[in-house]
Amino acid sequence: MDSPILRVNYKPQLPSKIDYGIGIIGCGGIVNYGHLPAYRKHGLNVVGCFDINRESAEKTARQHDIPKVYESLDDLLSDHEIEIVDIAVQPWHQRRIAEQALAAGKHLLCQKPLADGIVDAIAILRAAQQSGLKVAVNQQMRWSAGIAAAKDLIDRGFIGQPTDAQIQVSASTPWHMWPWLAESPRLEVQYHSIHYLDAMRYLFGDPEWITSRFAKYPLQKARAETKTITVLDYAWGMQALVAVNHYDESGDNYATFRFLGTEGLIKGTIGLMYNYPTGRPDTLEAHSNNFAPDVWFDVRLEGLWIPDAFIGPMTSLMAAIQSGGKAVTDITDNINTMRLVDACYISATKHRTVHFGEFEEIDTLLAGGTDDASRAPA
Ligand SMILES: NC(=O)c1ccc[n+]([C@@H]2O[C@H](COP(=O)([O-])OP(=O)(O)OC[C@H]3O[C@@H](n4cnc5c(N)ncnc54)[C@H](O)[C@@H]3O)[C@@H](O)[C@H]2O)c1
Repeated sequence: MDSPILRVNYKPQLPSKIDYGIGIIGCGGIVNYGHLPAYRKHGLNVVGCFDINRESAEKTARQHDIPKVYESLDDLLSDHEIEIVDIAVQPWHQRRIAEQALAAGKHLLCQKPLADGIVDAIAILRAAQQSGLKVAVNQQMRWSAGIAAAKDLIDRGFIGQPTDAQIQVSASTPWHMWPWLAESPRLEVQYHSIHYLDAMRYLFGDPEWITSRFAKYPLQKARAETKTITVLDYAWGMQALVAVNHYDESGDNYATFRFLGTEGLIKGTIGLMYNYPTGRPDTLEAHSNNFAPDVWFDVRLEGLWIPDAFIGPMTSLMAAIQSGGKAVTDITDNINTMRLVDACYISATKHRTVHFGEFEEIDTLLAGGTDDASRAPA
């Protein structure tokens, strides 16, 4: 007997209007191999680009047929054709650019991490709230095929009540692609596991308790952590594990997710991490007592976390502009991903478990209060 077909809704739904004028700030690696290939595939309207390195901007414009290269940030921001500013610079530059772009009346798509610490992230949130403009963050893993498909199934009750979630990656990461990370005091969680933590929040909401342990590889050149294990405890008893090692030189690399519930299981692989950034499609297998107790479904997925998923954050932002609602990765949501990232660093450095509610200043700000939210917990 043929297996029944499992219909999974994982491809992004584009809004009716997708021709907003986009201005790119920062023309480095991820813009060239992530943002622009995805935008081109869907016919988005990239008006122009700017980089402090003029040569990078010109090269990017040539390679992706972008009509304008700007002399300065001010030139880009004063162009009325540009409605959305798409920032892809190192996070410590992002706050100043975001504040200027909002002051110029532009909607924003920021790169992850929103900032290199919670204080600057909160400052961007404040500027966004005061402007009334839309600000989203490029946590595009939510639109990667495996995570988007899991979200659809979990929301439809496929696994019943979630009880255990795991994302485990053991990879040989090409660190030379980001030379600027070598000196960073924060590394693995802030720049990589942030995607997995954001995916866990997307699928299961915010945890109650956060415990992280960090380590380094004996031969690594980078200053900060490259091997991390984080446990998230949820109020209803679910436990989640994010365990990532970027120095597995054995050749036996893996990148897996496994979401278990009272009624079923979803498990699969994160294709991009098998040969970053070339990658391979995600895989997904699923079983549900609720849907077909005798069947294991093998779902064929298309598209890669990079570049294909990059269409998600940008078009979700466009949908929010049209509807007046919130983008899926709106800054008010992303501030809680930043809170989770900070909690991991506090946990690992202070050797203690952190309560998600310790950051009550953020809650006050999100509720529209005026307390000084720039103080991070010790
Ligand atoms: N979402 C993802 O999956 C993903 C993947 C890779 C990188 N990133 C993020 O994207 C950002 C950029 O990473 P990258 O790998 O492309 O780095 P990169 O060094 O390759 O590119 C950054 C570019 O920004 C330019 N730049 C720096 N400061 C600037 C400024 N003030 N104004 C204009 N241009 C400026 C640089 O000249 C450079 O061309 C980082 O924050 C990184 O964390 C996200």
